[in-house]
Amino acid sequence: MAAPWFEEEIATAVSPLLPGLTVEVVDEIDSTSTELMRRAREGRAQPVLLIARRQTAGRGRMGRPWQSAQDAREPASLTFSLGLPLLPRDWSGLSLAVGVSVAESLDPSNQARVALKWPNDLWVEDRKLGGILIETALPQDGTAERYLVIGVGINIGAREAAGMSVAPAWISQWRPQATAPQLLREIVPPLVAHVLLFGERGFVPFAERFAARDALRGREVQLSDGSAGQCAGVGWGGELLVQTPSGMKTITSAEVSVRPAPPND
Ligand code: BTN
Repeated sequence: MAAPWFEEEIATAVSPLLPGLTVEVVDEIDSTSTELMRRAREGRAQPVLLIARRQTAGRGRMGRPWQSAQDAREPASLTFSLGLPLLPRDWSGLSLAVGVSVAESLDPSNQARVALKWPNDLWVEDRKLGGILIETALPQDGTAERYLVIGVGINIGAREAAGMSVAPAWISQWRPQATAPQLLREIVPPLVAHVLLFGERGFVPFAERFAARDALRGREVQLSDGSAGQCAGVGWGGELLVQTPSGMKTITSAEVSVRPAPPND
């Protein structure tokens, strides 16, 4: 029998903050984020949590594919998207705030050292545990709110390193009994609260919490424009600060990929 996904429990837990959230679980879909963006473009902009046991065309940032983990444990990855209307004064730093929320839920006391690689990869010991994809759709009805789609993918069981430059990390390395539904139940209610807090107050309440898990701070990084420097943390708007020979660079673009420079021998 399929494991329950705590749909009612999650909807009830978030209802004081986000009434009317529907929770849907599907066996297979191309991508939970693609599906919620499709619905938004059709004018369906209600709060939805969509979970897929399998994605056939999972997407990552910058047009990259997102591959789920393959493992005897089913499902070996947690893949879901949360869609809701939001109207923050400023969207800067949202992806970092989401990363903070998910990392804190997975690792509340920071024992497992779940870190955040700007802007929102989840890392454990420099290996990718999960990723977050943030997208928005413009409203169909002329309202000012946008429809926000937050896609989250987390490796639970062992995952092959094929096609990845560095071997991934997975949850069962430190929580061998963890299941996708349990993790979903732990992640979603705080995530909803944090997204709504971001909508009211922006990135400021998350800045120190991001700093506490910042995987790049103090490290040499290479930027995709060819320059390099030492990462000096993030600013109050979630921008990445990099001290380069030509001065402090402020990186805001999602198009910039940041890699820790290889250590000097
Ligand atoms: C990244 O690492 O670049 C982001 C990965 C985001 C993957 C999740 S899985 C659920 C949702 N559906 C998708 O197609 N992508 C996100």
